Amino acid sequence: MLDHLTVVTHPLVQHKLTLMREKDTSTASFRQLLREISLLLAYEVTRELPMTTQRIETPLEPMDAPVIEGKKLALISILRAGNGLLDGILELIPAARVGFVGLYRDPESLQPVQYYFKVPTQLEDRVCIVVDPMLATGNSSAAAVQLLKDNGARNIRFLCLLAAPEGIARMKEAHPDVPIVTASVDSHLNDHGYIVPGLGDAGDRMFGTK
Ligand code: URA
Repeated sequence: MLDHLTVVTHPLVQHKLTLMREKDTSTASFRQLLREISLLLAYEVTRELPMTTQRIETPLEPMDAPVIEGKKLALISILRAGNGLLDGILELIPAARVGFVGLYRDPESLQPVQYYFKVPTQLEDRVCIVVDPMLATGNSSAAAVQLLKDNGARNIRFLCLLAAPEGIARMKEAHPDVPIVTASVDSHLNDHGYIVPGLGDAGDRMFGTK
């Protein structure tokens, strides 16, 4: 079982993250780094997947060889920045099923409102990995996880690049059963809900928008 919070301190992850934080890093470099870092984070978030064995034959003899147990993983991207993490992870886990959750923040209530939801079937039998680069207030992440639970998911993990203490606390309160894997826990959120020191708006930086 993964701990509630895993910070991936591997030197490659930390070095790439520093390059991503740097404000002068170009969109092309940011994207490439995100792709590379997502492979390394995917390695960590899948570390304790249930395993079984399968009878195979090597050129020398039969053996019971380890394989991942159960149905194909479900990767759930929180739109739109989640897609940046998703691409890299799919390179590592090409057979994964993919879902998308779109949420926006209601300007009056500040609560997340769903505008898109399309997820793989049989979520109850799959390990679900929710991906969103920035765990900020945690409101949309907690809402996305709740939507997955409402659709049957029972085994959920949350993968992000950066987390704010506020977001971690929110997720822990709402979903204590969902382990979080991140490359860094930053200092705090500012008044606009940005993670500080952070890296700015992850969606804008990966897609070159403003
Ligand atoms: N989303 C972002 O893209 N950046 C933040 O700092 C917080 C939320």
